[in-house]
Order: sequence, then C-alpha cells, then structure tokens
Amino acid sequence: MTRNVISVRDLHVSLSLGGNTVTPVDGISFDVRAGESLGIVGESGSGKSLSLRAVLGLLPRGGTSTGSVRYAFADGKIGADAERVRGRGAAMVFQEPMTALNPTMRVGDLIGEAVRVTGVRSRRAIKERVIELMASVGIPEPARRARMWPHELSGGLRQRVMIAAALATGPEILFCDEPTTALDVTIQDQILGLLRGLQEERGMAMVFVSHDLAVVSEVCDRIAVMYAGRVVETGPVAEVLRSPRHPYTAALLASAPSFAGGTDELATIPGSPPDPRDFPSGCRFAPRCAFATEECLRAPYTLDGDGERATACIRPEVLEAVAA
Ligand SMILES: Nc1ncnc2c1ncn2[C@@H]1O[C@H](COP(=O)(O)OP(=O)(O)OP(=O)(O)O)[C@@H](O)[C@H]1O
Ligand SMILES: [Mg+2]
Repeated sequence: MTRNVISVRDLHVSLSLGGNTVTPVDGISFDVRAGESLGIVGESGSGKSLSLRAVLGLLPRGGTSTGSVRYAFADGKIGADAERVRGRGAAMVFQEPMTALNPTMRVGDLIGEAVRVTGVRSRRAIKERVIELMASVGIPEPARRARMWPHELSGGLRQRVMIAAALATGPEILFCDEPTTALDVTIQDQILGLLRGLQEERGMAMVFVSHDLAVVSEVCDRIAVMYAGRVVETGPVAEVLRSPRHPYTAALLASAPSFAGGTDELATIPGSPPDPRDFPSGCRFAPRCAFATEECLRAPYTLDGDGERATACIRPEVLEAVAA
C-alpha cells in the first residue's frame, strides 16, 4: 500500500459574507498517494480554491476551517499543521502568476526567498541554486532572466518562475490551482508537459485544480468532482470519464468539447451553480438534474462506493440506462 502524502477528512471552510457565515466547502475528504496526481474539477464557485487554500493554511482573512488534514512525508514526519508544512513538504502554484508574484522583487530574488527557507545562506550558493532551478523548469538564459522584474517576462515564463519557486524546497506534494488558465493554448501545453515531467522525475504527488476535463484527463491519475462545496464523484480518471456515476459528472462531460463525442452542439447544464448563502437541501445538484426525483430533494449527502470509485448520487444506475 503506497503511503498517503495527504489525507483530508470532512474539511469545512467557512467565511463571513455580508454579515452571514457561509460554508462554501462543506465536508470534503480526499487522499493523495505518494507520486500520484489528483484532479479536482467543478464549476466556478464549487469551492476548489478554498479547499486548496485550507489545506495549506492560506485561507483569506476571516476564513476558518474544521476537519482533519494530515500530511505524511517520506522521512516519517507526520504533519497536521498546514502552515508548518508549507514551504517544506508542500508547495502551491497559483492561477495568475502576475498577481501571485511580488512585482517589486526581481525574479531571482523571488526564487531566492524560497531557497533561503531551505537553509541555504551564502549569497553565492543561493544564486547558484536559483539559476539551477530556473534552468530545471526550462527558462532560457536563467542568469540574465534572474535579474529581470516579473512584468518583463511573458505569462508562460512567469508561470515557470512560480513553479521554480515552488520546487525550491523539494516538495513531495505540489498543489496547482488552475495553473494554465491564464495562458494561451500552446504555452498551456508546454506548462502541463513541464509539470508532468517534473512529477515523474521527482516522484512528486500533485493536486491539480481545473475546470477543464481534458487537461485533468491528461495530467491526473484520479479525479474528484466538486459541486456546491462537496465531492460528488471520485475515482480513477479514465473510468470516471468513461462511465460517470453522477449526473453532474455526466453533464460536465456533455459540455466539454473533447468529450462530447465530436458533436458540434455542446449541451449546457441548465441553471447555474447555487450560491453558498443558499445551498439547496438534499442533493445540491437535484434542482438542475434531468433525473432528479422527490427522494433526491431530501437525500442526505454521503459519498458511497466500492474500491476506488464513489458517487454521491442515490440513483447512479439511471446513467447506465441512458448509456445503454
Ligand atoms: N474571500 C472570500 N469571501 C467570501 N466568499 C468567498 C471568498 N472566497 C471565495 N468565496 C466564495 O466561496 C465559494 C467558493 O469559492 P472558490 O474560490 O473556492 O471557488 P472555485 O471552485 O475555486 O471557483 P473558480 O473556478 O471560479 O476558481 C464561492 O461562492 C465564492 O464566492
Ligand atoms: Mg478557484
């Protein structure tokens, strides 16, 4: 049995929104094994970013979380304190490198800060390590670019800088929050190729948040589909995308260009995802689900399954009937 680098159980994240407390992440659980890549997908607002931030102790001001988050690293150290784990065994790559990188620091100094955390002290050693890291993520002429400001680099190079900084501490798990959505398609492919290569080379685990099923199917081993703050389906990515057991997964697939079976007309999911101030009772997807019954509107949330696969749908067989 491979070790779980991270085990998350019943994670809730609450925030204050216009004077009310809302819980946009409402009881999610997942594991990521050493060297494995988990994709988290779901529409905008489903709680993907807040989940990642919570497990890394990076919640926005006023945000609180409950539940258990345990890291277990190769050296046998088990961590429960997200803030102490960050910058050691775990690191994060954010969606928009321009806002995530401090604009008043030269690129080399930004990466240098991360190198310093690892205990390297002499300026010369830091500089050498920075250039080595920049080269390892495919930044050409690293010595020259280390002296540049973030705004002087292209979006793709900025994202490579952020990845280099994340790798400085030799993380065993890398959290990526939509790391390529701000980039054009060619650059996106290059960055995905880089992440996959690094993951293989270093045996690093990865949690990869994206709204793009095609990207997740390319990069990830397993998938967790989130809807309205909960995981509604999970399993090996190829199996889940071949035969979804939750109507929400099926609807996402039907609206994804690369999976909709070559039809020009993509189905859109009717309605919009619910606001955390107003989550429906019962199955939260039921109001938008083509298969919902009265029972669905009252069904308590549980993620049930066999072996690797699980679904929160109480009637997953309806999808098999449709497929047949
Ligand atoms: N700082 C905040 N204050 C109040 N509400 C917030 C805050 N951050 C997020 N939310 C709310 O929490 C919910 C989940 O947000 P989150 O950013 O995790 O979604 P997401 O799945 O990452 O979406 P996207 O695909 O758009 O990035 C949303 O409804 C959002 O409006
Ligand atoms: Mg997000």
